[in-house]
Parts: sequence; structure tokens; C-alpha cells
Amino acid sequence: MKFLTPRLITVASLINDDDDIIADIGTDHAYLPIYLAKGHKVEYVYASDINKKPFETALQNVKNFGVNNMIEVIHGPGISWIKERSNLQIDCCVISGMGSTTILDILKEDNTKINSYIFSSNTNVLPIRSWVRMNKYFIESEVLVEDNDIIYEIIKVNKFAGKKIRSLREEYFGPLLIKNRNKLFIEKWATEEEKLNKILVKLPKNDSKIKKIKKELKMIKKHTNKEMRK
Ligand SMILES: C[S@@+](CC[C@H](N)C(=O)[O-])C[C@H]1O[C@@H](n2cnc3c(N)ncnc32)[C@H](O)[C@@H]1O
Repeated sequence: MKFLTPRLITVASLINDDDDIIADIGTDHAYLPIYLAKGHKVEYVYASDINKKPFETALQNVKNFGVNNMIEVIHGPGISWIKERSNLQIDCCVISGMGSTTILDILKEDNTKINSYIFSSNTNVLPIRSWVRMNKYFIESEVLVEDNDIIYEIIKVNKFAGKKIRSLREEYFGPLLIKNRNKLFIEKWATEEEKLNKILVKLPKNDSKIKKIKKELKMIKKHTNKEMRK
């Protein structure tokens, strides 16, 4: 299926063979659920969206691709509807293509009917890793993917097994990503460093953000290998 972006293909690749029941929150065109259903990678997908227009587009696409028997399209916010369905257990809940603030807002309704999550945020992932650490959940996988000149961090969080986040360093860079430090990792942090330096020179000398930015820059320098950036 050609319509899936590299970012969404990476999200799909983190769904395991034993993840049978999937929820896709903020499904928009329902491209991910259709891809999963067509590939018979999963048993059933709940595709939900808060807005009426994407909900209607998703409904139409699911019908056009002939996968109504494998996908239910839901019009509603976040994950609260999962709690309300008595016999439902979600193996993997995808929350993708939104900012971390929206994702964290949705996660206020986190509940025991969800076993794992895949997050693909459009903004800084640090607050999401902080949430994972605070809840004592585990990082199952972390992947970097370049899509449209942006490097995304895709994270799979498991409630029962995986790697614990044990330090601020792991929260900031990702406990698995910092172990690998591949080419995309070095590129991503070189770009972040450049962005922070640009912000820094524009700030007035007494701005309270300077200390925090300098601390971040120090951490980036310490943990990304300059030799590999050339
Ligand atoms: C940019 S699209 C992302 C589509 C796809 N998930 C992806 O990763 O490319 C974001 C979608 O999230 C929906 N959305 C935003 N906030 C939401 C919420 N709280 N609950 C459910 N859907 C939400 C929007 O209506 C929109 O269709």
C-alpha cells in the first residue's frame, strides 16, 4: 500500500505478531488501520477520531477498501471510550501524529484495558518519556525515522516488560536510542543543538531560559559523538 508515509510504516512495524487488537487514536484517514487490516497483521482495529470530518473520511475509506469487518470507526475523543466497553482489551494503542501535550492529555485516561502504546509525537518527546518513567512502564522499542526532512522518535511502551528509564539522560535521549547512537541519532541531536544555539543568541542576557538551554547543550555535547557528525 503506497499511501503510508515512512513514519507510519515504522509505527506499523512496531506492532508485534501477538498484538491482535489495536486502537488507533486520531486515525484521520484511517490509513494505518487499513494497512494493518489489508496486511492481515492484526485481528481487529478500533480507529477513532475526535473530529467529525476525519471520522467521516475514515468511515468512507474503510468502506472503499472493503475492510469494514476488521475495523470499527469511532467518533470520539482520546481513549475514554476504551474504559467504557466492558469486554474490550487493547493489545496495542497507537497515538500518533499529534503534539506531546495532546498525547499527554489523552493519557490522563490511561487504564488497565490497554497493554501497550506506540507514540509518534510531532513535538519534543521528553514529556512522554517522563510520563513513562513516572508510571514505571517500560520502553519496548525506540526507532528513529526520517520523513519529509524531519527525524521522528517512534516509541513503543509496554506495561509489563522492556527497558526501564533510569536517568534524566535516558529520559532525554531514549534508553535504547542512546545505546545505538546511529547516524540518524547523531543527525537529530546535531539539528537540536543548532536550534538551541539559534534560540540562545536571540534571548536577552538576563532571560531565565538561558540556564536550562545551556544545560541541555552541555548534555547533547557530552552524549553525541562529534567525530560521527562529520
Ligand atoms: C495529523 S492527524 C494524524 C493522523 C495519523 N494518526 C498519523 O499519525 O499520521 C491528527 C488527528 O488526530 C485527531 N485528534 C486530535 N486530538 C484528538 C483527540 N484528543 N482524540 C482523538 N483524536 C484526536 C485529529 O482530528 C486528526 O485527525
